[in-house]
Amino acid sequence: MIARERGGALTDVLIREVPHGGEDYRALVALRDAVLRAPLGLRFSAEELAAEVKDRHFGAFREGLLLGTAMLVPLGAGRAQVRQMAVAAEARERGIGRILLRRVEEEAARAGCCELIAEARSDALAFYLKQGYAVVGEPYVKMSVPHRDIVKKLA
Ligand SMILES: CC(C)(COP(=O)(O)OP(=O)(O)OC[C@H]1O[C@@H](n2cnc3c(N)ncnc32)[C@H](O)[C@@H]1OP(=O)(O)O)[C@@H](O)C(=O)NCCC(=O)NCCS
Repeated sequence: MIARERGGALTDVLIREVPHGGEDYRALVALRDAVLRAPLGLRFSAEELAAEVKDRHFGAFREGLLLGTAMLVPLGAGRAQVRQMAVAAEARERGIGRILLRRVEEEAARAGCCELIAEARSDALAFYLKQGYAVVGEPYVKMSVPHRDIVKKLA
C-alpha cells in the first residue's frame, strides 16, 4: 500500500460562490479541465459550460489562488447534486475538499434541499464516505471511469 502524503489542514482557505461566465468561472473550468478531463484526453465543451448557467459554482481560494472547486445542481423536489469536485493536485489531503463539500451541503440545505446526491468516481469514494455519504446501486462506468452513486441526507 502506498503511503498518502499529508501536509496538515490549510486554515486560511476562503470558499466563495463564483458567478457563471466571468474570470473566476473561467479559472474554475481550467482547474476542472486539468483535474477531471485532461487525464481522459478531454475538455469541457462550450455546450456543456453554457448548460451550467443555472447551476451554482464554488471556488476554494487561498491568497487569491484557486485551489479547489465544486458545483451545486438543483434537481427539484428537495434534491440537489454535487458535481465537478476537483482540488488541485498539489493542494490535496489538506482539508480543502472537505470544506468545499460542507459549503455545498450548507447551501443546498439553505435552499430547502434535504438530500444531496453525486456520481462519485470510485477513486474518490473513500473521501465521500468520510463525509457521511452512502453508496446506492451498482458500480458503473461513465466516460471510461468507474463510478458509484452516493447520497447524503442533509440536516
Ligand atoms: C477527491 C478530492 C476532491 C478530495 O479533496 P481533498 O482536498 O484532497 O480532500 P480532503 O483533504 O478534504 O480529505 C478529507 C478526508 O478524505 C480523505 N481522502 C481525500 N481524498 C481521498 C481519496 N481519494 N481516497 C481516500 N481518502 C481520501 C483524506 O485523507 C481525509 O481523511 P481524514 O478526514 O481522515 O483526514 C480530490 O482528491 C480530487 O480532486 N481528486 C481528483 C478529482 C476527483 O476524483 N474528484 C471527484 C470526482 S467525483
